[in-house]
Amino acid sequence: MPLKWFRIFSLEVLNEPNFIKLLQVEGRKFCVVKVNQEFFAVQNRCPHAGADLTLGFCKEKKLICSYHRYEYDLETGRGAEGQGDYLTTYPVKVLEDGIYIGFKEKWTFFKKLFRL
Ligand code: FES
Repeated sequence: MPLKWFRIFSLEVLNEPNFIKLLQVEGRKFCVVKVNQEFFAVQNRCPHAGADLTLGFCKEKKLICSYHRYEYDLETGRGAEGQGDYLTTYPVKVLEDGIYIGFKEKWTFFKKLFRL
């Protein structure tokens, strides 16, 4: 399914220290994590009990939920062994004019259809 890309940051963000931020694009909230010069985008709610993952912290390329310390791989979204859960991940790319996140076209179609 084709992706629709949305610019979420200018390149100046590359000079910022690592962060975890909540963003909203096209009505969809997600969590963006900067780890060194890499960016990851995942759902913002923890699949365990719904905590806001932007309140969590990173350990290398793992996102740790602040509530019960469940751990998720930022590259795959997979929860740590034994958790049996995962995060939805979104592709992020760095272009010459900024940082972009990609959503499947299906989402933008349904958003228009239901006026989300
Ligand atoms: S709500 Fe995230 S680990 Fe429990």
